[in-house]
Amino acid sequence: MDKLAIQGGIALSGEVTISGAKNAALPILCAALLSAEPLKFSNLPHLNDISTLLRLLGQMGVGVTLEGSDGLVLDGGGLNNPLAPYDLVKTMRASILVLGPLLARCGEARVSLPGGCAIGARPVDQHIKGLQAMGAEITVEQGYIHAKANRLQGARICTDMVTVTGTENLMMAACLAEGETVIENAAREPEVVDLANCLVSMGARISGAGTDVIRIQGVERLHGAEHAIMPDRIETGTYLCAAAATGGEVRLLRTSAAYLDSVVDKLMDAGCDIRLERDAINLKAPPRLKSVSLRTAPYPAFPTDMQAQFMAINCVAEGVATIRETIFENRFMHASELQRLGADIQIEGNNAVVRGVARLEGATVMATDLRASASLVIAGLAAQGETIIDRIYHLDRGYERIEEKLARLGAQVRRVH
Ligand code: UD1
Repeated sequence: MDKLAIQGGIALSGEVTISGAKNAALPILCAALLSAEPLKFSNLPHLNDISTLLRLLGQMGVGVTLEGSDGLVLDGGGLNNPLAPYDLVKTMRASILVLGPLLARCGEARVSLPGGCAIGARPVDQHIKGLQAMGAEITVEQGYIHAKANRLQGARICTDMVTVTGTENLMMAACLAEGETVIENAAREPEVVDLANCLVSMGARISGAGTDVIRIQGVERLHGAEHAIMPDRIETGTYLCAAAATGGEVRLLRTSAAYLDSVVDKLMDAGCDIRLERDAINLKAPPRLKSVSLRTAPYPAFPTDMQAQFMAINCVAEGVATIRETIFENRFMHASELQRLGADIQIEGNNAVVRGVARLEGATVMATDLRASASLVIAGLAAQGETIIDRIYHLDRGYERIEEKLARLGAQVRRVH
């Protein structure tokens, strides 16, 4: 298993290019299941989660052709096997995103239940409830969701909580349903809007994406289209935090702060000087950061996917920060690993109190999930001495060539096989 060895204590400095968004690419690639015509994508990130999804789509009969460094053509003309087996689904919960499109296009789907995962139970009941409201017959047997419907019918759906992939699954299914579907309490995340834009360019009739009520008028079929994946706002935020924690100065290219207001605001509260351009972000950190308290919540509030990285920067900031996690019930696993580096963190339920310390010391730590891993990288970069991060396969799921990008910013990072 690969490890990352970081020599900390070096201020990051320089330019780095941000990749396409993982959480936009995953649902958008699933949209290829909705059409018999080819879809052409650009700005696709090179990530293990994307490779897993392409393997899954390939097994279903979708043609997969890589084009250039970040392009891809998916051809759903050959779709013949609406099955998502356990061995692929278990490694990536987002595989559930094939359920809605398969059911809408093929009239049936068999998708393995994603099961538990490190950051909480994460059920898919809202996906199932929404599809049932659209007329699907759904049974769960032997760990598989079996869904059937002659043609889905438009419906009014109000999800019990804001769910990102739930909204995306139902929006995709509704594109080919008969009549109008209204999704209330919809997720407003920018990735939902990117998916809606792709679907609209395929001929879907969608309004309200980006608000909490999305209306979809079903159509008979969707056609081919071209779509560029939006920049990854979480990768962007992670590099901003890495620069902030090390007292660095960086310029991030091919990205935008348009969807990062809550994160940029917090970094400014921490004392960073941030200058925004249309597709670049410049950050200059102060010699010592100030603590910033936060509470995670659905977009446009502070993203849960940035919580761990902000815990890392608070570890070395001046003052005391309170972090409240409201989306997932078990998303503080990074805290005990950060403590191994000398951090002062107290956890009580979904609240963490972080008292900044003057310095962290390098140690061996273990990555437990994707964003937790990112927080350990940030802390390792800020710590004195060497930090070894074990189990970095989590990082490879969501950060493209992380050691190469960090090295470009002057970090001393190497992958140990
Ligand atoms: C997506 C993101 C993930 C992010 C999360 C919250 C992708 C591929 N992943 O995950 O990076 O951390 O949004 O912003 O886009 N829930 C239910 N029943 C359901 C669905 C969700 O109880 O049917 C609960 C979940 O357990 C969780 C909350 O709702 O507590 C939000 O989850 P959700 O928005 O669905 O997360 P994902 O879409 O899986």
